[in-house]
Amino acid sequence: MTTIVEAVNLKKTYMLGKVPVEALRGVNLKIENGDFVAILGPSGSGKSTLLNLIGALDKPTEGKLLIEGVDVSTLNDNQLADLRRRVGFVFQFFNLIPRFTARENVELSMSIVDVGKAERRKQAESLLEIVGLKERMNHKPTELSGGEQQRVAIARALANNPRFLLMDEPTGNIDSKAASDIMGLVNRLNEEKGVTIIMVTHDQRLASSAKRTVHMFDGLIINEKVNH
Ligand SMILES: Nc1ncnc2c1ncn2[C@@H]1O[C@H](COP(=O)(O)OP(=O)(O)OP(=O)(O)O)[C@@H](O)[C@H]1O
Ligand SMILES: [Mg+2]
Repeated sequence: MTTIVEAVNLKKTYMLGKVPVEALRGVNLKIENGDFVAILGPSGSGKSTLLNLIGALDKPTEGKLLIEGVDVSTLNDNQLADLRRRVGFVFQFFNLIPRFTARENVELSMSIVDVGKAERRKQAESLLEIVGLKERMNHKPTELSGGEQQRVAIARALANNPRFLLMDEPTGNIDSKAASDIMGLVNRLNEEKGVTIIMVTHDQRLASSAKRTVHMFDGLIINEKVNH
């Protein structure tokens, strides 16, 4: 197996005015290709901070992050932008663009340089089919349920053939039926399509469907477990 993500003694200190907030205090984590890791932990324990660092949305204060063996701190701005495009991010709030349809939201995230217009449209349609929204393609976000919007967000995250999917509480704002649909989808993406998944959740039950769970507390990983 190849390691796609490796965090080595990762630290992140935010400055709140003059007060330092140690959000991560030395995290070590290795994620293999095809893995499905759930990150659990109380509010404020550093879960989103860790996800943002792994997605190269933010820089660590100390320590190293390797993506496919490459130290992210050695990348220039162009290379960083390139890396970010190949990371699928699903946020807790869906972040769809309201005035565009489901299909347009997925199309828009595709790289214009790599894919022509007709091809983008075809890919967007097939991604929406994968997440079970073929019939809702031309709906705008306000015309979709919360769970459907989250599935559009997942289709969008898959658009640039990402190295891995980062999900920050993907079921945090939807009802439990929609949440179990999303979890079914996420499991299928991992098992059938081999998509590597790193998912933050508050929900122990959802976490147990992942291959591994990682518990965070106060900026540290305090426990790691293999589920199945
Ligand atoms: N931009 C920021 N500036 C200052 N402090 C921050 C910033 N972002 C996060 N923090 C602090 O860092 C710590 C970790 O925050 P983080 O968002 O990673 O927690 P979390 O585990 O994702 O929590 P939640 O479950 O509530 O989403 C918290 O104490 C938070 O207040
Ligand atoms: Mg968070």
